[in-house]
Amino acid sequence: MRTVRTVADLRSALAPARAEGRRIGLVPTMGALHDGHLSLVRAARAACDVVVVSVFVNPTQFDDRADLTAYPRDEARDAALAAGAGADLLFAPSVEEMYPHGFATTVQVRGVSEPLEGEQRGVGHFDGVATVVTKLLLAASPDVAWFGQKDAQQVAVVRRLVADLGLPVTIEAAPTVREADGLAMSSRNVRIAPEDRRRALALKAGLDVAVEAASGGDLRAAEQLGQQWMRVMRVDPEYLALVDPDTFAPAHDPRRPSVAVVAARVGDVRLIDNLPVPALALETR
Ligand code: PAF
Repeated sequence: MRTVRTVADLRSALAPARAEGRRIGLVPTMGALHDGHLSLVRAARAACDVVVVSVFVNPTQFDDRADLTAYPRDEARDAALAAGAGADLLFAPSVEEMYPHGFATTVQVRGVSEPLEGEQRGVGHFDGVATVVTKLLLAASPDVAWFGQKDAQQVAVVRRLVADLGLPVTIEAAPTVREADGLAMSSRNVRIAPEDRRRALALKAGLDVAVEAASGGDLRAAEQLGQQWMRVMRVDPEYLALVDPDTFAPAHDPRRPSVAVVAARVGDVRLIDNLPVPALALETR
């Protein structure tokens, strides 16, 4: 696996494969790779001829400077893991390469980026994600790009932006990979204090309760039950909501599939998770 650090080098490295009509896959990451990321790399490997993994801790999507500073960085480890999972190229640009002096453009996706994560982390969060993802897609021009379903709202934002800008790429979302006890894998998990580790399971437990309760047909009551269950486990949800998977507006019709999404701070670490909520087969007479 080769590491390239500039957009020009990435394009040159991909040019022969592109000229031969080979399929290029991109897995955008911020590094600190874990099994969730590696499942994306393996999926890309299975579907594409050339696999690019980008590692870039994108400063513009962090609402909290301390979170940006504390974000784990270990490029040598990431490179070894990405290569082991089948990556051909690691794109690891500097901040100056991605945001050169005078950079003044922001890609903003309205609507789907505004509630929940947009509200909690500030509108700037998804502006930062949308801007850097657009730049990564333009730099690599992949046929397919993979994202983790754990960041369900991010996936919806990226799908919206790709559709709106008519970018010639297929977006694939791969299922959330979990620890043995159900905790969704995240680069932030290494920062959970040992004494908080059990409480971190409250997010998945709250989602399980909400999804189960949604089969009763009252989606707002299901949200409340999930939230109450989390509080019993001594975790205060920032939100636990049942939403439309495309718009992230509150879901109202239990006969349509929705997604249960949750965010909470456990100690110093902010975690998110989600589960699909199947459509309810209600009799209509
Ligand atoms: O999910 C992430 O790791 C980041 O938000 C992404 C998509 C790589 C953009 O910086």
